[in-house]
Amino acid sequence: MPTKKHYYDIISIFPQTIEPYLQASILGRAQTKKIVEFKAHNLRKWTHDKHHQVDDTPYGGGPGMVMMIEPFDRAIRAIRKRGKKNRIIFTSASGKLFEQKDAKRLSAYDQLIFLCGHYEGIDARVEKCLADESISIGPYVLTGGELPALVIIDSVVRLLPGVLGKEASLEVESHTEHGLLEYPQYTRPATYKWKSYQTKKIETLNVPPILLSGNHKTIEQWRNEQIKKRSQI
Ligand SMILES: C[S@@+](CC[C@H](N)C(=O)[O-])C[C@H]1O[C@@H](n2cnc3c(N)ncnc32)[C@H](O)[C@@H]1O
Repeated sequence: MPTKKHYYDIISIFPQTIEPYLQASILGRAQTKKIVEFKAHNLRKWTHDKHHQVDDTPYGGGPGMVMMIEPFDRAIRAIRKRGKKNRIIFTSASGKLFEQKDAKRLSAYDQLIFLCGHYEGIDARVEKCLADESISIGPYVLTGGELPALVIIDSVVRLLPGVLGKEASLEVESHTEHGLLEYPQYTRPATYKWKSYQTKKIETLNVPPILLSGNHKTIEQWRNEQIKKRSQI
């Protein structure tokens, strides 16, 4: 059965910073497979004046510039797909902290529209009236909303059916519904001679021997213990 397409639209004054990331690797393949469609839109397209102004000084005074409501409003009207289940996301350092369960929740929408701020941020009416929710990717301040939009899109898209290969299991990944962290993974070589950056001494880094035993039952037990240890339960 063909899966329905999901649309991810990012409204930004630096759309050129966004697209290369979305075209690479698993996200790029998801677009080639027509599971998703990504579009980075230049907010300045929805201005009227010859300088394509998107910001102005803050009412009440204070430092910096604030992005105006009108270009965002006009952009959303042009981009929103009628009849599709969509959600408008305001990226903000003071928004609700983004978690894996939000990625799962947002993967149910046909279209996500991201509003990316810069400078001092966006006129508060955009968050209050135009957006459906406000998301922060962490307790720190970035220069713009482009990285938060990419972080959210990346974590959402990999949950869509058909995006990851058959061999990849979402069940055993960290932060999935059960809230546990994944066990440590190793690959060849089984032994690696490593020169310490600080002491310059040669150290032998071994893969835990149990993983080389071929005994699937004990390997599974060991992995479950590691999950508990890492998740501190
Ligand atoms: C320089 S920041 C504005 C910071 C704002 N004056 C404040 O104190 O919260 C510019 C833009 O970057 C984005 N941004 C910065 N940090 C973020 C974070 N932790 N999570 C999500 N978006 C963030 C938002 O879109 C914000 O409007």
